[in-house]
Amino acid sequence: MRGWMGKFRSLFLFGALTMLLTGCGIENISALKPKGYGSELLFDLMLISIAIMIFVFVIVMAIYAFVLFRYREKKGQEHIVPKQTEGNKALEVIWTVIPIILLLVLAIPTVQATFDLADQSTQEDEGVITVDVTGNQYWWQFDYSGEEISTSQELYIPTNERVYLNMKSSDVIHSFWVPAIAGKMDTNPGENMNTMYLEAYEEGVYEGFCAELCGPSHSLMYFKVVAVSPDEYEQWVEDMKNIDPEATPETASAQEGQELFNNNCMSCHAIGGASAGVGPNLGNFGNREKIAGILEPSKENLVEWIVHPDEVKPGNQMPSELVTEEEAGKIADYLLELQHSDVGQDLPVQSVEE
Ligand code: CUA
Repeated sequence: MRGWMGKFRSLFLFGALTMLLTGCGIENISALKPKGYGSELLFDLMLISIAIMIFVFVIVMAIYAFVLFRYREKKGQEHIVPKQTEGNKALEVIWTVIPIILLLVLAIPTVQATFDLADQSTQEDEGVITVDVTGNQYWWQFDYSGEEISTSQELYIPTNERVYLNMKSSDVIHSFWVPAIAGKMDTNPGENMNTMYLEAYEEGVYEGFCAELCGPSHSLMYFKVVAVSPDEYEQWVEDMKNIDPEATPETASAQEGQELFNNNCMSCHAIGGASAGVGPNLGNFGNREKIAGILEPSKENLVEWIVHPDEVKPGNQMPSELVTEEEAGKIADYLLELQHSDVGQDLPVQSVEE
């Protein structure tokens, strides 16, 4: 029995280590390597609580070890029962007051950070970017307030600026989480809107997750935050505003694809401009880092996704086998040609799937 348990334990340890070490190679994903204002604040709170825990642990262990060795029965010593005492005012006061002080040390910065992260004082200022975030089964929609820009799966922000998010859900509760930049925030269905802000210190592509179990493809509800310099951000806004859904694609196959797309897909999707409503806006699709947030951007993967979306992301709203594989190939040619902005394309991308 023990041998079996031993093997099981080493297997478990090996698995845990593998996961830990795999995580080490991925940048811009960990809350323990903060790259933004919110995540830095939260990381500092973690350090305070860990410091307090270590302090308490060391003191308790030291007292424990002292008592264990100092008062143990020595060889040849007579077995005695120590004098029994009850109640010690000084001790009672000490071990009540010390935890209170420790909790205060923890509580004051925590409450401060809570108010700080909920601060919206500059949201109405001129030039401040606000994005309406909508969680959907199983993708994220980002509508830029005051601009005719709607994106999905990729949220572009300028570095070192507060970008406010107004957050809701179109179906069930999701939770928006970009560990390296900020904390989590739920998106709720109905009128209950949550708000938070993002501020990234460095340019980069940051992995985002849905952190609330929302259905069979919850774990595939990835997105990316692309932080670029303020100048590049301006360029991106300009590029996105100039997308023309009627523009004629280059290749003949893509032209046929455009027609197929307009006839079959436009009731849910949009190309450029405002939000599409039901499905993602695919305006800059050809430059997206991933297809459906999870697949490498290749024609083969895109055809697979268009024809059998339910096999890629079970439970999603896109109908299966709406078009044939041949038609999907043409639609793929069209969508992959939609490269209207190359801002952020030079940033290295890492993925949790790799
Ligand atoms: Cu959306 Cu989990």
